[in-house]
Amino acid sequence: MSIKTATLNGVCTIEIARPEKKNALTVAMYQAMSDALHAAKADKAVRAVLITGQPGVFTSGNDIEDFMTRAPGQGSEAMNSPVFLFMRALMECDKPVVAAVTGAAIGIGTTMLLHCDFVYVSDEARLAMPFVALGLVPEFGSSLLVPQLMGHRRAAEKLLMGDPFTPEQAVECGIANAVLPASEVVNHARRMAERFNALPPGAVREAKQLMRGPQQEELLKTIATEGALFAKRLKSPEAMEAFQAFFQKRKPDFSQF
Ligand code: COA
Repeated sequence: MSIKTATLNGVCTIEIARPEKKNALTVAMYQAMSDALHAAKADKAVRAVLITGQPGVFTSGNDIEDFMTRAPGQGSEAMNSPVFLFMRALMECDKPVVAAVTGAAIGIGTTMLLHCDFVYVSDEARLAMPFVALGLVPEFGSSLLVPQLMGHRRAAEKLLMGDPFTPEQAVECGIANAVLPASEVVNHARRMAERFNALPPGAVREAKQLMRGPQQEELLKTIATEGALFAKRLKSPEAMEAFQAFFQKRKPDFSQF
């Protein structure tokens, strides 16, 4: 199984473990992460959730082969797809979620960080949201949250150009809390998550709900709009060219569009 979960000392750890494919996320992996988040929510012994990857890679994003062969459909089919169920469980998780970004965080690897409460990044990590370069559009609220965090100009570099950015830039623009040496990032994130053992869980839950509350409706509306466009774009000739180019290890050619 490429998602490992374990609960220890009040912290439920969800570890992405598919290093041979740079932790690319498949439909089955999203389902496993969604199930783990629901179990963590229901377990009174869990005070916080830690999401982490493998040394050198957090996740290279959605499995591109799955994009080509098992893309979520439109409407309610999309809303019930494992990727939606996972992101929804993450957004609705009423316990603090801490991310230890152990390495590359691409596509949904960066998008999911926008919905975590604490983000610690290895000094060897690179983050990127190359949706447009793949013929796609931003997803799960990133078209709303990224410009809000850093302003339109810096968001355009990340969302329209898809430029990779450093851990230091992630902190500077508000996506991450701190940069840690690669060997320390998981332990630091775990120590932060364990601090919730000493805090009152009811107050933590309600404070988190208050922090997220005001723009929840706008966020859900944005996610639905993004999702409909994303599903359409997955089948577009632009996206097909980008996916094929990835597997053929060449640069995509968009000159005919
Ligand atoms: N989906 C499917 N397979 C992926 C993948 C993904 N998102 N990311 C990596 N892989 C596979 C590669 O195809 C390769 O498989 P192979 O050994 O069978 O050829 C293997 O994982 C190793 O990847 P590789 O690209 O050789 O590693 P690298 O160290 O040179 O680069 C990344 C690492 C993460 C920078 C690079 O793999 C990458 O850019 N991946 C795609 C990121 C992406 O666009 N994600 C989707 C965002 S929406």
